[in-house]
Amino acid sequence: MKLLTSFEQFKQPTFSFGEGQEGRRARVAILLSGRGSNMLALVEATKTGILKGLAEVVVVFSNKPDAFGLEAAAAVGCPIASLPSQGRKREAFDADAAALLQQYQPDLVVLAGYMRILSPAFIQPFAGRIVNIHPADTHQHQGLHAYEWAFENKLTETKITVHLVDEGLDTGPVLAQQPVDLRGADTLAEVERRGLAVEHELYARALAELIKSARHAERSEASRVPQVIPSRE
Ligand code: GRF
Repeated sequence: MKLLTSFEQFKQPTFSFGEGQEGRRARVAILLSGRGSNMLALVEATKTGILKGLAEVVVVFSNKPDAFGLEAAAAVGCPIASLPSQGRKREAFDADAAALLQQYQPDLVVLAGYMRILSPAFIQPFAGRIVNIHPADTHQHQGLHAYEWAFENKLTETKITVHLVDEGLDTGPVLAQQPVDLRGADTLAEVERRGLAVEHELYARALAELIKSARHAERSEASRVPQVIPSRE
């Protein structure tokens, strides 16, 4: 699979593991509100795929306690947590959600169908560590219903986008993109089927690159630290 966007962004890692810890697996919190197919693909990638040895899922969190994805996460052995967002003020909920997630000490917060715009109360504690996947080029389409948009506009291609999350709606820096050929996809279900297949692979690949770049940067940093040479006495 060829990525159209280079991994240029990854040369400047946005997070670090902490001194002397770059050999460990990145601790990943996955956030979802719905069915969780991306979550399952990522969990599988940490067990047997491209994220094996690079990442571990330390919690799957939802703002909807009855989300199907939470059940699915528990069924594959992931720790789960939830906090209902219904009826809560955005900032107050986000502060509580961030505090709950901090107990799991995540290196990365990975949004996988997490249906909320994040306020500074959530973004600030995890700045540069929050990643999202969007079913379209975020420069062309933001927010919900991206597959419907592609289908209704009879697009011959959509571009799955993995990006860092900032306070806007799908406005953060793009990390990776992968096109999906939509020619001949004559139902919305077919558009989604093709798109999700790419999402599931691209997300794991982009996270692997992000983690490897953080490891690499820290190793280079460590090798610049002056060595203490033992005296010969
Ligand atoms: C995916 O299409 C993702 O790109 C978008 O929300 C959807 C979540 O699907 N942000 P799933 O819950 O991972 O199956």
